[in-house]
Amino acid sequence: MKNRLFLPITIKGKTIRNRAVMPPMVRFGTAGNDGFVTEKHVEHYRERAKGGTGLIIVEATCVQKEGRLSDDQLGIWSDEHIPGLSKIVQACQEHGAVVMLQIHHGGLKSPSSVIDLPVGPSKDEKVPSRELTVEEIEQIKQDFLQAALRAKEAGFDGIELHGAHGYLLNQFVSPITNRRTDEYGGDLKNRMKLSLDIIETIKQELGNAKFIIGYRMGGNEPTLKDGIKIAKLLEDAGVDLLHVSAGIQSPELPLPEPPKSFPFNWIVYCGTEIKKNVSIPVIVVNGIRTSSQAALVIENRLADFVAIGRGHLVDPFWTYKAMNKMEAKPCLECKPHCRWFTDGDLCPGRSI
Ligand SMILES: Cc1cc2nc3c(=O)[nH]c(=O)nc-3n(C[C@H](O)[C@H](O)[C@H](O)COP(=O)(O)O)c2cc1C
Repeated sequence: MKNRLFLPITIKGKTIRNRAVMPPMVRFGTAGNDGFVTEKHVEHYRERAKGGTGLIIVEATCVQKEGRLSDDQLGIWSDEHIPGLSKIVQACQEHGAVVMLQIHHGGLKSPSSVIDLPVGPSKDEKVPSRELTVEEIEQIKQDFLQAALRAKEAGFDGIELHGAHGYLLNQFVSPITNRRTDEYGGDLKNRMKLSLDIIETIKQELGNAKFIIGYRMGGNEPTLKDGIKIAKLLEDAGVDLLHVSAGIQSPELPLPEPPKSFPFNWIVYCGTEIKKNVSIPVIVVNGIRTSSQAALVIENRLADFVAIGRGHLVDPFWTYKAMNKMEAKPCLECKPHCRWFTDGDLCPGRSI
């Protein structure tokens, strides 16, 4: 019987050839201050598509110049970004991958090289920053919508809203960073309002198109119980694909804890628990390195997709090798952190 990891699945009319996903990963040190795609980006993604990956989610690409997470992040705040992004799309689709774009705003996490006074749902007491006005929030919704329309024009098969890792959408959803008292703060539904409004406006424009609307969320927001509620709200809002990663941790609460027998970490655990509570497809991620680990997730229907991040950085042919029972190059787990956070060329394990 065929390994389910290599079975295709269709979402919104897009057939994804297998269940291996390359999650979004900024290729630091590659874009300039203007956010344009370079040939190096195109080749980076082409290699992973050639390597057999089913779904490639292109790195966090910023919807506002002042919302970037670093000054070398890709941008989609202008129509001028479309031709470069469409080169990535062509390179991926030419080699059979379905390709989505992660759209992003850094909020309070934007560095001083990008903005003098970062903005968020509420002021961050630890760093100079300020609360967004309602007019500015309306502008951000428009910027996300325009980014989605530009992604569609560039030829992407869908977008993923970056609602995890403590960036702007996550800052609104989390009660730790959102202390607003207006319609964007308070109970979970209010804290979700920015994300839900963005999804609604994108769906109004692109809901009937063959275009996947995905959302990357934190499974701990701050508890897994909250993560499950968020996932259900996203499903009700019409999200087509959920990608469960880490959210904002509470200083007072422990992280969700998987049972002792669970063979993966707490982030994957959150994804598998969320999968039990929704009907839309779910991607799990974090620390999954080998094809047998990925097959275990899919064969046991713990999730619909497995994202392999650093595994894809060290070995673009991760999926091809998994299909052909060959060993992929191992990630060397560099400490204190992955070298790709500075420049992929410094990765000691990479082959290309
Ligand atoms: C260099 C690097 C850049 C990353 N950039 C992003 C990003 O743009 N958006 C995002 O949601 N996550 C980003 N991540 C997180 C990955 O998508 C993934 O969740 C993480 O690496 C854990 O998966 P892994 O253990 O399979 O690598 C990045 C990770 C790395 C190593």
